[in-house]
Amino acid sequence: MKALVLCGGSGSRLRPITHTMAKQLVPIANKPVLFYGLEAIRDAGIEDVGIVVGETAREIREAVGDGSRWGLDVTYITQDEPLGLAHAVLVSEGFLGDDEFVMYLGDNLIKDGISSFVDQFRSNKPNSEILLAHVSMPELFGVAELEGGKVIRLVEKPKEPPSDLALVGVYMFDHNIMDAVKAIKPSKRGEFEITDAIQWLIDEGMEVDPHVVGGWWKDTGRLEDMLEANRIMLEAIEPRIDGHVDGESETHGRVVVEEGARIINSTVRGPAIIGERTRVENSFIGPFTSAYFDVVITGSEVEHSIILENSTITDIPGRIEDSLIGQNVQILRSAPKPSAYRFMLGDNSRVGIP
Ligand code: DAU
Repeated sequence: MKALVLCGGSGSRLRPITHTMAKQLVPIANKPVLFYGLEAIRDAGIEDVGIVVGETAREIREAVGDGSRWGLDVTYITQDEPLGLAHAVLVSEGFLGDDEFVMYLGDNLIKDGISSFVDQFRSNKPNSEILLAHVSMPELFGVAELEGGKVIRLVEKPKEPPSDLALVGVYMFDHNIMDAVKAIKPSKRGEFEITDAIQWLIDEGMEVDPHVVGGWWKDTGRLEDMLEANRIMLEAIEPRIDGHVDGESETHGRVVVEEGARIINSTVRGPAIIGERTRVENSFIGPFTSAYFDVVITGSEVEHSIILENSTITDIPGRIEDSLIGQNVQILRSAPKPSAYRFMLGDNSRVGIP
């Protein structure tokens, strides 16, 4: 069995962060979201992995390499334009051949991995197995309608969802999916939808087994989801202090301080992770915060936030919360007079002021 990991697409919902980086590489608890997927694939006993890449190909290749770090054998497949998930399967025909495969969307995070689903697919041998989860806003997803435990209809982002069962971004297929992706037409939003390809399998009388996921799952495509994913993964970290915590500082609960990080005259209340070479000085880091590498936080309070590499937060009077701060960002206190907000913000930025 092979795996096909989708890392093309544009990441429009996470702009401006995704102007400068692939959305699949945004770190959750200081680990790129894609790496959780690769680990899940390895744990399911799959070695042969195709990664579909688009405009962020260089970055994804740099981060993943040949996959040997995970014991994987990675092949890169170029998709020139993000024409849809079914199109990504089509361009991977040479890699997939007639093999069965699991398709994994590179921005999805499934806390308990995929081994049990892959095992089930291997033993039951349906033409396809899809994973479903109950969600509060099904209109943002592909939605399934079940009858007597069977899938009867799948619709992509319907205005009036027939159920609250969303398609999770992990699918298993046998070779018949290739006929399906060749048969379908683009949807109203102009994409070749994998949802329509699976509907084609159903219409052709093939077996599509649904499986409702019990554990926690997230599509990390939006800020709120990213912060939630960070919270869930931080709750599971093993506390570890590899950096330096000075005598004036305190850490409470699940806190990781990575190698080369320094906590000076500060409090870090976990779950939180302080990345390599990051300096926290005269500050408070509250629960559910991840600071990636080479970050500097001085004289400030940060909670429930993700801070990416090389950013600095200096002498901010109020607490920063619920924030995703990109790479090389500077947040600082400006001269008190004249009293005014002073910004230099990139395109599509978002700032909240009370
Ligand atoms: O997350 C689950 C949802 O994923 C499902 O419920 C939907 O049925 C499914 O269509 C998909 O919806 P999204 O709108 O969230 O898909 P997105 O455009 O975010 O793409 C998902 C991943 O696939 C992402 O890592 C980018 C990659 N991708 C996307 C497209 C459109 C490609 O590699 N090539 C593409 O052409």
